[in-house]
Order: sequence, then C-alpha cells, then structure tokens
Amino acid sequence: MKRPIALVTGASSGIGESLARLLAERGHDLVLVARDAGRLETLAKELESAFHATAQVLPADLTDADQLAMVEARCHDRTAPIDVLVNNAGFGTFGPLHTLDLDVETREIQLNVVALVRLTHAAAAEMAERGAGGILNVSSLAGFQPGPSNATYSATKAFVTSFTEAVHEELKGTGVHVTVLCPGFTRTGFQATADVPAEAIPGFMWQEADEVAREGLDALAKNKAIAIPGGVNKVLGAFSTVTPHAITRRVGAAVLKRSGA
Ligand SMILES: NC(=O)c1ccc[n+]([C@@H]2O[C@H](COP(=O)([O-])OP(=O)(O)OC[C@H]3O[C@@H](n4cnc5c(N)ncnc54)[C@H](OP(=O)(O)O)[C@@H]3O)[C@@H](O)[C@H]2O)c1
Repeated sequence: MKRPIALVTGASSGIGESLARLLAERGHDLVLVARDAGRLETLAKELESAFHATAQVLPADLTDADQLAMVEARCHDRTAPIDVLVNNAGFGTFGPLHTLDLDVETREIQLNVVALVRLTHAAAAEMAERGAGGILNVSSLAGFQPGPSNATYSATKAFVTSFTEAVHEELKGTGVHVTVLCPGFTRTGFQATADVPAEAIPGFMWQEADEVAREGLDALAKNKAIAIPGGVNKVLGAFSTVTPHAITRRVGAAVLKRSGA
C-alpha cells in the first residue's frame, strides 16, 4: 500500500529530526529539507532501515529565494503529493537588537516567517483541492509575549502562531488539518545557535525533542489549532495569554537582568 508523504523542514537536527523519525515510525515516507545534506542522508538511511520508509533528501537554504522556490515546487508536485507539511526550520538570535547583525536578523525573518508562509501556501492549495492533508507549523512559547533581547525571534513566532491559527479556521471542514506547535525550552542545537545562556534556565523547564514532536503530531491528528507541549509550558502559556504585555515584557527583561545575561 502507498505510504503518505511528509515533508519536514529543519529535519537535520533537534525537533525536526524527531518529527521526521516519528512520522516514519507512524508509516510515512519523508521529504527531508535542511542545508546539511550529509546529516539528511544519514537520517534517510536510518529511516529506511528502521521503518522501511523511503526518504527523499532535498537540501535547501530556505532563506534563498531560488532554493525556497524548489521546495515550493516539491509541494506542488502532484505525481507524489505531500500529505503532511511540517514547517519546523527556524533559528533565534539573542541580545539587544541594535547590537545584533542586521543581515542575520533579516535572514531570521526570511526563514521563520517568509519561508513558512510560502510553503504553507503551496501545500494548503494542493491539500484543499484534494480535501485532505495536514500542516504543522512550529512556533514557540516565545511568541506569546514581546521578548526583550529576543525581539526579532519573539516577533517572528508571534506571527507564526497568529498566522497558523487563522489558516486553521480558514481550512476547517475542508479535510485539511492545521496546527501550530508552541514548545518551550527544548534540548536541541537551538540554544547554541542563538547564543542563549542555557545554563541559567532551571532543569524542570526543559523538554526533550522527542516529547515535543509526539505532542505536536498527536495534536495535528486531532486538528487542534494550537499545541503547547508539557505541563510547565501549558501553565506559562496560560499566564502569558491572560497577562498584559506591559507586565510580561517587564518580567522578561527583569528575569534576564537577574540571570546576568
Ligand atoms: N529548542 C528550543 O528550545 C525551541 C523552543 C521553541 C521553539 N523552537 C523552534 O523549533 C524549531 C526547531 O528548532 P530546534 O530547537 O530543533 O533547533 P535546531 O536543532 O537548531 O534545528 C534547526 C533546524 O533548522 C534548520 N535550518 C536552519 N537554518 C536553515 C535554513 N536557512 N534553511 C533550511 N533549514 C535551516 C537546521 O538545519 P541546517 O543547519 O542543516 O540547515 C536544523 O535542522 C525552530 O523553529 C525553533 O524556533 C525551539
């Protein structure tokens, strides 16, 4: 029997790698997207031997318009339709905005927002016509409030959450599931890339990438609009939702100052 196909961006590490592995375990073939072709090849071989999944490796820098267009074209390829799109690739930057490299900030918006919107558009158009499919967009708890020293990242994730919730409503009743996954601190390569002082964050606040991936895919299966993985994160998410930004942004800045970051 033909296996459904899932395209996962940022599949070369962290949450994306866990999502790809779990999708293969749940019976999907994969299209693996990220810049590091070597890591994607290694994962593709593992998915084939462990789960008999066929995995296409599609190396792409999603901040590059031509390479992004190639991945969009893959979403439109009706000879091997994409059943599940996971927009997971993303990165953060840390520090007061005026001290950060503006080109890196711009690439952050290109990856976290522009690529995610274009791929959602491409996949949603095909899925809506077929009347079936699923789109899981990976956002962050950081998007629930303004983030001093995390300004661009928090704003991109606020966009992703709002955008995905809206598209969820647009596609309700079409057979296309749309879910936004909002993890908190998760042990991946993210903190090193963002230069975040991870050692200042208490242990109980962390989750493993596999747990986050599982909660995300379970929520997509149920067509939940929003998934916040983990008990601690659910409490933090509820607090952020009911508390005015005037308070949460000050609390965020004060916590950073106390941690010496
Ligand atoms: N870890 C956390 O605490 C946390 C919390 C909340 C939300 N998130 C979100 O979770 C998602 C996954 O992050 P992670 O924690 O798993 O971090 P990660 O281990 O650093 O993974 C990031 C992934 O994105 C890919 N990527 C980065 N730049 C890219 C580009 N220009 N084009 C294509 N792919 C690119 C990376 O692959 P290559 O380097 O091979 O391109 C990698 O596969 C992100 O959207 C992040 O914002 C993470």
